[in-house]
Amino acid sequence: MSLKIAVMPGDGIGVEIIAEAVKVLEHYKSNGRLDAELTNAPVGGAGYDAAGKPLPDETLALAKASDAILFGAIGGPEYDGLARELRPEKGLLGLRSELELFANLRPAILYPQLADASSLKPEVVSGLDIMIVRELTGGIYFGEPRGIETDASGERKGFNTLVYKESEIDRISRVAFDIAMKRGKRLCSVDKANVLEVSELWREVVVKASADYPEVELSHMYVDNAAMQLVKWPKQFDVMVTKNMFGDILSDCAAMLTGSIGMLPSASLDANSKGMYEPIHGSAPDIAGKGIANPLATILSVAMMLRYSLDHAELADEIDAAVGRVLDKGLRTPDIMANGCKEVGTVEMGEAVLAEL
Ligand code: IPM
Ligand code: MG
Repeated sequence: MSLKIAVMPGDGIGVEIIAEAVKVLEHYKSNGRLDAELTNAPVGGAGYDAAGKPLPDETLALAKASDAILFGAIGGPEYDGLARELRPEKGLLGLRSELELFANLRPAILYPQLADASSLKPEVVSGLDIMIVRELTGGIYFGEPRGIETDASGERKGFNTLVYKESEIDRISRVAFDIAMKRGKRLCSVDKANVLEVSELWREVVVKASADYPEVELSHMYVDNAAMQLVKWPKQFDVMVTKNMFGDILSDCAAMLTGSIGMLPSASLDANSKGMYEPIHGSAPDIAGKGIANPLATILSVAMMLRYSLDHAELADEIDAAVGRVLDKGLRTPDIMANGCKEVGTVEMGEAVLAEL
């Protein structure tokens, strides 16, 4: 039976980078190494344009019926004025919560070829290989009550709720421990237990789960210190696990260590390893349509999809290696451009990866 892959380019550069990533999937389909059916659906601003909401019913139904989802990026200035419920971000958040994609894996790997693209000294980042495990369907992103209200005096107040149940903390920490077991066996749980009750519970539950992983060395760090340590000496980390919002912030920080946010893929998995795969960068309206966006994060997201959801690790290895060889050849999109390299656009970069395959 064919694997079902939903393809959701979204907005801005999402459209351009997904086109290159789809070429990789089509390549393996045409040489018979992947039996898959690809179906496109609009999401984000494109969903609003097509069906009046950022997560059209048909898009959600397709996502639910698929084995994996390849997602581009969402958002653009033309949608900024819409009511919150209609904003493109709701399309992405809706998919995450409707599909219960609670485990977000964000690897920050520095390709040796790009050591000079980082704003940090090469010796600080060379060989960097961190996995950030971000809880994705709970915490302050989804907690109720939330809103903006006007009190009796006429002053408005905005509020959100940071809430985690024990079961939510337990399942994300077990994902992180499992990943740590397959890597360097070190896990750092990031929280704000010196201030927040939720974090106190978080720490307690993580410690409890650690009893089942005696081989993993568990440490704890406050989020402010973690941000500092990430830029000071990032190689001290192997796997990090944290709440939704802390993970959002720390993963952007970790991305920059690697030179460009245009290089980093991500996977968002449910309890059965069904997943959504997307570059961690956004829709970059400022460069949309110019043909200069880096498609590598999305192509690497395809590799993660093949590895984590579609049981084709051999193809994932090939794609990862092909990206390495393209960088060896000195091809660079503007975001990772360096002296002595050849600057290429989105399509040229995609074609170069394809040629290596
Ligand atoms: C991310 C993004 C999203 C998030 C936005 C677009 C809703 O920043 O995936 O990191 O905050 O989770
Ligand atoms: Mg983010």
